[in-house]
Amino acid sequence: MKLTWLGHAACHLAIGGKSVLIDPFFTGNAKYPTDFETGLEHVDAIIVTHGHADHLGDTERLAKAFNATVIAMFEICAYLGARGVERTDPMNIGGTIEHGGLRITMVNALHSSAIIEDGTPVTMGDPAGVVIKSSEKTVYHAGDTDVFSDMALIQRLHQPKIGLIPIGDRFTMGPETAALACNEFLDLETIIPIHWGTFDLLSGDPESFKPLVKRGSVLTPTPGEPIQL
Ligand code: NI
Ligand code: MN
Repeated sequence: MKLTWLGHAACHLAIGGKSVLIDPFFTGNAKYPTDFETGLEHVDAIIVTHGHADHLGDTERLAKAFNATVIAMFEICAYLGARGVERTDPMNIGGTIEHGGLRITMVNALHSSAIIEDGTPVTMGDPAGVVIKSSEKTVYHAGDTDVFSDMALIQRLHQPKIGLIPIGDRFTMGPETAALACNEFLDLETIIPIHWGTFDLLSGDPESFKPLVKRGSVLTPTPGEPIQL
């Protein structure tokens, strides 16, 4: 499996022969590697964890450009469908779907999910995390979330070895709570910190996170540089 972090919560997975984007926030993402999209030949699926602009991001444009299937909460799929996205695969917390040999499960996240239209929040359903499973690898993208003890249940049910874990604080876990999640509830081999360093508002960083992690090793990839896992 090849994982490319694209800054913030955005990443690309080449997994099980499929090309998958998660939370493709490209426009306005200071860490997004600008030439990434030109090298992207195809996208099979775009997974969106929740409706906030820094996660929904460029989903509508990319789904149309690549004729990709958007996999997201029911409300997000309905919203994008009404805006002309042709392929959507709606789900909700606890559900598992199959997509081209991948198994995708939507799991809990402690957060909110809405988009702001003309100053008014429009609900996008509940926020989520996601587990993506191929025959070889299982990846947990936690979305935006606080720590919660049922992360242990996610670990027990799906046994992910690779996790994308938010550490930026203010809107999600910070370094201490993210380390608690990794040390006590999850059992990851590879931990990739996300949702940090994009905006001044996000104070948590890998330097403060790394020394606190006792279980699993923390990898901080350079945005746009693929890592083999
Ligand atoms: Ni959010
Ligand atoms: Mn966010």
